[in-house]
Amino acid sequence: MLLKISIVSLILATLSEFNKVSGQDIRHFPDDFLFGAATASYQIEGAWNVDGKSDSIWDHLTHTVPCTVADCSNGDIADNSYYLYKRDIEMLRELGVDYYRFSISWPRLLPTSFTDHVNPAGVEYYNNLINEMLKYNITPMVTLYHWELPQKLQELGGWTNPSMIDWYGDYAKIAFELFGDRVKFWITVNEPHLICHRGYGSTTMAPRLNMQGTGEYLCAKNLMLAHARAWHIYNDEYRSLQKGNISITISATWYEPESEKDAAAAEDYHQFDWGIYAHTVFSEEGGWPHLVADRIATKSELQGFARSRLPALTAEEASNLLGSSDFYGLNHYSSVYVYRNESVVGLYESPSYYDDIEAGTFRLDEWKISPNSSVNMVPWGFYKLLSKIRKDYNNPPIIITENGFATAGGLEDDDRVKYFRGYMAAMLDAIEEGSDIRAYTAWSLMDNFEWMDGYTRRFGLYEVDYESLERTRTPRKSAFVFKEILRTRSLDPNYEPTTTTITIDPGH
Ligand SMILES: *[C@@H]1O[C@H](CO)[C@@H](O)[C@H](O)[C@H]1NC(C)=O
Ligand SMILES: *[C@@H]1O[C@H](CO)[C@@H](O)[C@H](O)[C@H]1NC(C)=O
Ligand SMILES: *[C@@H]1O[C@H](CO)[C@@H](O)[C@H](O)[C@H]1NC(C)=O
Repeated sequence: MLLKISIVSLILATLSEFNKVSGQDIRHFPDDFLFGAATASYQIEGAWNVDGKSDSIWDHLTHTVPCTVADCSNGDIADNSYYLYKRDIEMLRELGVDYYRFSISWPRLLPTSFTDHVNPAGVEYYNNLINEMLKYNITPMVTLYHWELPQKLQELGGWTNPSMIDWYGDYAKIAFELFGDRVKFWITVNEPHLICHRGYGSTTMAPRLNMQGTGEYLCAKNLMLAHARAWHIYNDEYRSLQKGNISITISATWYEPESEKDAAAAEDYHQFDWGIYAHTVFSEEGGWPHLVADRIATKSELQGFARSRLPALTAEEASNLLGSSDFYGLNHYSSVYVYRNESVVGLYESPSYYDDIEAGTFRLDEWKISPNSSVNMVPWGFYKLLSKIRKDYNNPPIIITENGFATAGGLEDDDRVKYFRGYMAAMLDAIEEGSDIRAYTAWSLMDNFEWMDGYTRRFGLYEVDYESLERTRTPRKSAFVFKEILRTRSLDPNYEPTTTTITIDPGH
């Protein structure tokens, strides 16, 4: 009898595995799971010099060296959402989202960078946006820093200046004061890896400082302490009144070892890419990850530095950081394979982030959905990343704050549909194994200025026509599929949209 039962359950388990793999079953999201879509201020707002706004590092970069951007474009007008925000909210209603993740432009709110002048037009814009969302029960999820540093603060050293912790804290406090009565989800900082590594340790993103092996680690310390400052201000002064949740969003790639011998190299990549930030907040012991701190200290000494290129955290700083979160905000797009062999020894400029890691990476051609796809589709990497976060950081509540796919454009975006379905299924696998994932945010609501790729890579559920004055927004096939997922709170791999007209369902 026992044997029979176990054979039957084995067959059932095998069948359900088969269904999972073949992706033919309809899968359901937890009852209280939330869905949203995201954008960021510089990528959509336009109105770059309107109503008292001052320059951000992206205004400065795109105006001084325009052709560092693929199509020599900028965010001067972008999606013109400063004027068209009502259409954006209408699209969110069409999709039926629970929340909208957008960001506040620091130089629009505080044109001098400081709190001596709060720009009334900036306050009005964000009030209008928030109030329009609330009319339709769409919850605002607000990112305080999505890369829009006031240019003047960059000239004072940007995130390498420890005074940034105070200045950012002051800015955050103003935002809580102005908008916190209505905003229940705050994200302090978006993607520290891109801000610090790409901005300070390379030439790929504003401010393109290229202080390799030093700039990114100075930035890491001040940026994380600024996050902690904002969290504590909220926790101490606003939480009891405003009752919202606040945390940081950390972007992470999944690093898969090429073979067993590469496990340590892959772990190095995980720790240097995102563990360096996550460990300070989400681990049990806090501080920098030992692996990272020891490696940089050892190399720094050999290289003749007077002290580690990674600035130490005092006990007080480490303790301010530890636990400064109400959820784990995660942005994830794709995966790479990692290896380490003789070929990487001495390969990288020294000192540098890459020399500190001393490993190589590659992608598989078969990860491309189509020859033109620019985000590789590796859903199992998402599953493995979510499992690692659960295990490494004692299963924190997670909000997926970004996940999405780029195309060259066009309304028939079957590749994006395939990507969303694959990644959501991988997320459901992690949830079934116990990961505490509360919400999923699609990047992006609509096409927008994609940083160094300008308008050449399109991430939108809605296509934006940059030739039209109205910046006409049209739903892609993926918008219909996303809407159906939200309506049914389930993933039906066989659903095919039967209409090209999107309407607002009752109750939205
Ligand atoms: C904030 O998080 C707590 C704990 O996870 C939860 O009970 C509460 O509902 C959250 N608040 C909001 C506004 O979602
Ligand atoms: C190192 O590993 C990479 C990735 O597998 C491989 O392409 C390369 O040939 C290897 N080099 C040596 C010297 O083993
Ligand atoms: C792929 O890109 C090429 C070159 O940009 C373009 O001509 C072609 O139409 C694209 N194909 C698809 C399916 O988008």
